[in-house]
Amino acid sequence: MHDDIFPVPEGTRQRSPNPLTTLDAWRAMRADAQHDPDAFWLAETRRRIAWRTPPTLGLEGSFRDIGEQPVAWFADGTLNVTESCLDRHLATRGDKVAILWEGDEPDQVRRITYAELHAMVCKAANALSDLGVRKGHRVIIYMGMVPEAVVAMLATARLGAVHSVVFGGFSSDSLRDRVIDCGARVVITMDEGLRGGRKIPLKATVDHACLGLDVQHVVVLRHTRGPVGWVEGRDVDWHQIVQPASAEHRAVECAAEDPLFILYTSGSTGKPKGLVHTCGGYLTWVSFTHQHVFDLREDDVYACVADIGWITGHSYIVYGPLANGATTLVFESTPLYPDAGRYWDMVERHKLTIFYTAPTALRTLAAAGDAFVERSNRSSLRVLGTVGEPINPGAWIWYHGVVGEGRCSIVDTWWQTETGGICIAPLAAVTPQKPGSATLPMPSIEPFLVDARGDRVRGPGSGLLCLEWPWPGIARTVWGDHERYVSTYFGQVPPYYFTGDGCRRDEDGYFWITGRVDDVINVSGHRMGTAEFESALVSVDAIAESAVVGYPHTMKGQGVYAYVVVQPGVAWTAELERAAHDSIRTSIGAHARVDCFQLVPGLPKTRSGKVMRRILRKVAEGDPSNLGDLSTLADPSVVDAIIDGALTPPNRG
Ligand code: PRX
Repeated sequence: MHDDIFPVPEGTRQRSPNPLTTLDAWRAMRADAQHDPDAFWLAETRRRIAWRTPPTLGLEGSFRDIGEQPVAWFADGTLNVTESCLDRHLATRGDKVAILWEGDEPDQVRRITYAELHAMVCKAANALSDLGVRKGHRVIIYMGMVPEAVVAMLATARLGAVHSVVFGGFSSDSLRDRVIDCGARVVITMDEGLRGGRKIPLKATVDHACLGLDVQHVVVLRHTRGPVGWVEGRDVDWHQIVQPASAEHRAVECAAEDPLFILYTSGSTGKPKGLVHTCGGYLTWVSFTHQHVFDLREDDVYACVADIGWITGHSYIVYGPLANGATTLVFESTPLYPDAGRYWDMVERHKLTIFYTAPTALRTLAAAGDAFVERSNRSSLRVLGTVGEPINPGAWIWYHGVVGEGRCSIVDTWWQTETGGICIAPLAAVTPQKPGSATLPMPSIEPFLVDARGDRVRGPGSGLLCLEWPWPGIARTVWGDHERYVSTYFGQVPPYYFTGDGCRRDEDGYFWITGRVDDVINVSGHRMGTAEFESALVSVDAIAESAVVGYPHTMKGQGVYAYVVVQPGVAWTAELERAAHDSIRTSIGAHARVDCFQLVPGLPKTRSGKVMRRILRKVAEGDPSNLGDLSTLADPSVVDAIIDGALTPPNRG
């Protein structure tokens, strides 16, 4: 394990205008929050957020009572989040660039000031209002990375309606499930997305997803101007309704705990769940963490290259940066288009100062060779962030040394869709870094580790990562299924929040996330449930049973290894494998793909019929020697057959 300490680079520390510059001050801030969370967060939120009615209440409820009622923060406050993200900046930052957009082709650039963004959002809010969108209604957004996607989110929020952004890689089946689950009557999409020169038929996917559903309007932004189907009466052209609308709009007043958005994410069982984030606590959390972790300054040009279809895009492309009045990049393309130097060319082109990406991209770019990095001037960079999966020390060192020329802070940020924003991470200007460690927790994040016996680990050691206290950004519920929320997150180590991650704490109290301990796999930073793969596979007639596990993949973090049992008399052919791939693409999306299929005579099950995944994971990892206790297996001979037929999946690390 790499336990070298990298001090905060001198330049970063000295030039920081932020008052918080020492680790002791940071620890004191944490202690304040621990001592009196209500006072601490009420002071933070009043400074950060443009409340209509400033709150007097801090935290209401507790993890212990979460079954009866979700926790609430700032419950007596009222606001509209878009006033914090737009209106209040007009006087001081009206001409500052809010959104810096770079399209699929590097020469396509748009710069949208706060004043312009405010006008665009007001127009879109008026147009959506004319279509009947009201407070509390759900609006699905299925778009590529264009400024109008951000406008659509903010316009929905301005009406007090609830957006649910669906990543443009999801299939029509996945999109349909989400439209049905949240009961959306309006879908906002575009004709086609563009990524690396490829067109993505978004409108056609929406048409398919909405067949037979009670969707009243599909708003379509013309982007590529490619041909699309048109349902008269239902479909409306974005520009036709937005352009003529008034650029003045009085934002709808919301309670702090009104839902702001629903974002679906995969769990270890069943269908994806819609995590609900609310207005006041969420915005406070993303504003606080975005400022402190990245050491944000007024003249920063900040770039997070995630997609708004994921929580990273919500919190650190849209809400955190805009609440803080920052210039935020919206990037349509991929790190490899037109070649592996795209990110670093972009750094030079826009003089980016903060750059936030995922380890999977770094590993891919490091493999492409340093020449792609070195051809661009990166002297503007000060802070480099990562998120989404554990970063291996090799990739960390490469990011620090090659991309950052040893000059930049690296912030490895651990958090989840459920946590709303960053929970464990260094502060760029404050925390000494260790390659591979997310370092120390934010205020009100009280992590603890639980060992296999269910006991708390004291001091250095490893275990399941749990959080003891409710923080303002925590998701409040699962849309339409509070029981599922309670049992998933608070039923494993009751009454605390269980993250699903394994973790080590070292002698300095630094946290090292080791990855998921449940049946969630993280492929290239995309979170997927093994159950979703399995249900897609068994929907192929010839496949009788299947079990899917992750294995360590040198590029993608985890790869997908599928064990399949075919129906009697059926052979595993190239055609059947194609059908299996197709089924997964149709039911989940193009970003979900099995790397390796192993045909097996049966799955290792206990006598009560439970699949022993531990065995399957070990075999996929190439470590079948220590399978542990096999005495509860119904048919031990199955295991021998699985080991004999084991394959070496691609890029196993
Ligand atoms: O396993 C952890 C991993 O990503 C999971 C959360 O995935 P998602 O909800 O899609 O959100 C991703 C973006 C916040 C976590 O349970 N993860 C996220 N960040 C890190 C990480 N693992 C290790 N280190 C990180 N910095």
